[in-house]
Amino acid sequence: MSHALPPRSRSASGGGALNGTIRVPGDKSISHRAMMFGAMARGRTTVSGLLEGDDILATGKAMQALGARIEKAGDVWHIDGLGVGGFLAPEHDLDFGNAGTGVRLAMGLVGTSPFATRFVGDASLTARPMGRVLDPLRAIGVEVIEHHDNRLPIALRGPRTPLPIRYRVPMASAQVKSCILLAGLVIPGETVVIEPVMTRDHTEKMLEGFGADISVATDAQGVRTITVMGLPDLKGQELIVPGDPSSAGFPLVAALIVPGSDVVIGNVLMNPTRTGLIDTLVEMGGDIAIENRRVSGGEEIADLHVRYSRLKGVRVPESRAPSMIDEYPVLAVAAAFAEGRTEMPGIEELRVKESDRLAAVARGLEANGVACEEGHDYLVIEGKGRVPGGGTVETHLDHRIAMSFLVMGLASDNPVTIDDDRMIATSFPSFMDDFTRLGASFSPDGEAA
Ligand code: S3P
Repeated sequence: MSHALPPRSRSASGGGALNGTIRVPGDKSISHRAMMFGAMARGRTTVSGLLEGDDILATGKAMQALGARIEKAGDVWHIDGLGVGGFLAPEHDLDFGNAGTGVRLAMGLVGTSPFATRFVGDASLTARPMGRVLDPLRAIGVEVIEHHDNRLPIALRGPRTPLPIRYRVPMASAQVKSCILLAGLVIPGETVVIEPVMTRDHTEKMLEGFGADISVATDAQGVRTITVMGLPDLKGQELIVPGDPSSAGFPLVAALIVPGSDVVIGNVLMNPTRTGLIDTLVEMGGDIAIENRRVSGGEEIADLHVRYSRLKGVRVPESRAPSMIDEYPVLAVAAAFAEGRTEMPGIEELRVKESDRLAAVARGLEANGVACEEGHDYLVIEGKGRVPGGGTVETHLDHRIAMSFLVMGLASDNPVTIDDDRMIATSFPSFMDDFTRLGASFSPDGEAA
């Protein structure tokens, strides 16, 4: 995996317009779930369009260590699953690398099993809070044999009798919601998750597709009550993974800020819990046409036709945060090139992503001559229509910080350098090649321009 290599700096510099068509890799959230649900279902699951990034490959290895058979035939992944409750005790630690989704969902998936499982990850993942999933797992009766101030390495063992819980998720987190729902699959009776603010709904939709007994009730305030019945007979499915809207954010913003650009991004997931960035960029004046809306694999997808635009600053509604939570770093780049102030309130959750993204973005903007104000839970950016650039950005093992600032360099007056590009392989392994084909210019491996 990428972590085995030494850090590798990289620069992006402004040049010609970006032109052509790009197909972004498969959605990361759906790909993790495809691996896990396939491993838990009885019989064979086939997956096409899977994201073959390091995060997903780590989840795949963990599922193999629990007894699932996983192999690739041509472009299609085959997963032979074990059935609910069928996981075997792993002979080694489960290493999730950089992947928060991988480890948090897997703790729900196997934490109730009657054997010890130890979860580890890289320096970024080890620094991230896991109490948010350990708390509900403890309520279910899962024994936390090892933890380090509720951080990795963590070892779990399931109880003799796991208890169904009714749990209100205290923060907007699809990972916490999903962890509890997955644990609920092996608990007799009804497990209930209350979600005050709707987050991405891939777990609910995909579990239903696999045959789980799951229902969702939404009240007048938008509070969702999700109920899953334990011990279902999940059966293998044929899955098609759509393109990742979070990855699409990079060519989308790049085409908007590099003068003369005209780019089509094909096959992008349009699930409304994921499209907040598109709404925001359109409000900023971005010329984005949503073309060819169609349904694939139970989800709406579309092609995004985007052209260079003069952007203006906006205030992003706080309620939109869950539907674009991973896109704030690249939105910050768009805001830096806009005219006027962009305000992003209610984004405290950015502090516990692959890095403290609020701080990492603010430092990266400052290093490249962009004025901003960082609050505990907000960011304000003063856009001046152009960015001086010329700075070096610390990426803190965070793929989205790395890609966002390379995008900035494609339109800034001077090149932008990132200290380390290795983590891009976690979610967008073809990033450099795909952008080069559109006309972007990057310095070669390890060389800063
Ligand atoms: C994800 C949920 C989000 C998101 C992450 C993927 C998921 O995390 O940031 O990249 O697939 O469930 P949180 O649950 O921490 O908000």
